[in-house]
Amino acid sequence: MKFIKPLFYLLTTVLILSSCCQNAQEPKEALSIKNAFKENFYIGAALSASQIEESDTLVSSLIKKEFNSITAENMMKSMHIHPSKDTFNFELPDKFVALGEKNNMFIHGHTLIWHSQLAPFMTQIIDSTEMVSFMQNHINTIVGRYKGKINSWDVVNEALNDDGTLRNSVFLDALGEEFLALAFKLAADADPEAELFYNDYSMTNPAKREGAIKLIKKLQESGVKVDGIGMQGHWNLETPSIEEIEKSILDYASLGVKVAITELDITVIPSPWNLQGADVNQNFEGSEFMNPYPESLPDSIQTKLAKRYADIFKLFLKHQDKISRVTFWGVNDGQSWKNDWPIKGRTNYPLLFDREFKPKKAYYNILALKEEKNKSE
Ligand code: XIL
Repeated sequence: MKFIKPLFYLLTTVLILSSCCQNAQEPKEALSIKNAFKENFYIGAALSASQIEESDTLVSSLIKKEFNSITAENMMKSMHIHPSKDTFNFELPDKFVALGEKNNMFIHGHTLIWHSQLAPFMTQIIDSTEMVSFMQNHINTIVGRYKGKINSWDVVNEALNDDGTLRNSVFLDALGEEFLALAFKLAADADPEAELFYNDYSMTNPAKREGAIKLIKKLQESGVKVDGIGMQGHWNLETPSIEEIEKSILDYASLGVKVAITELDITVIPSPWNLQGADVNQNFEGSEFMNPYPESLPDSIQTKLAKRYADIFKLFLKHQDKISRVTFWGVNDGQSWKNDWPIKGRTNYPLLFDREFKPKKAYYNILALKEEKNKSE
């Protein structure tokens, strides 16, 4: 029995060591989508004005728990931040940036040059000199104020038509396509460290993709800095296909820029544009066909949505080296702009959290996907 004593010592040492290491371990991180993907890409959300104001503590803690990047849904668009020629309104944008800083989040600025939600005075600018001085003032003032604080910017938003040609806008009218390079140059001068993005929707559509590639190549050839392409990701249950999304990620990444999925939401109710030979008009408002789930989402559609989100995230994981950020366009279904667009007053279910801010099946599917990946590695 002479080996009993050494065995006893060995066991005691193992026990002491394991208990000491356990104490030294970090507390287990909370289960959340941002933690699940922390080694892959940022998980962001677009915040409404009341979310920026932190008016509901439960919602604020959900945002902190689940997301490590934020975008202001509306508050940095020209009509809000620069409402008249010599007035800037920084109250909410300042709170937005402070919120991101307080929580160590990646802060994304949306958006500097966009044809929509324009401040009314901007529609009066027709002359090129006046437009250049507007852009200088707008971009220098806003990007300059948040230099070193806002990590990336949508410098130009939605400059393309669906066929890949340049969209008519106050900017194109006044300056021709030069407005694009000017915007990127001014943004880079105002904050050389900020990442600069071109952002648009339907970026998986082949004609638009070709247009976007041409646009970025031209900017690169002209010597301005472009760091990334934002694919908005306002998608449906069936379209775009995973293949189309994949091809777009690969094609954009091959330009040597980052790809971000910037405005992800998946609509589960019909789009008027899917209707063949029917006019898109007010007649559809409130019709049962266009608003099929006014009370709750049937289980079968909930499951379909969850599968769609899992398929999409599986693809994002496959190309994690190319994707820097995945941002949802809103926190929960009740808040989503998809309840009011393209038809007002419908009940849509496009996000990961329901109207009570509870995680949906899609949320758990995405987390499970990550666990599977971890196990297989
Ligand atoms: C939307 C907001 O979510 C709505 O609240 C607002 O009424 C209209 O704009 N592409 C963009 C976003 O780049 O800024 C848009 O956000 C959605 C489409």
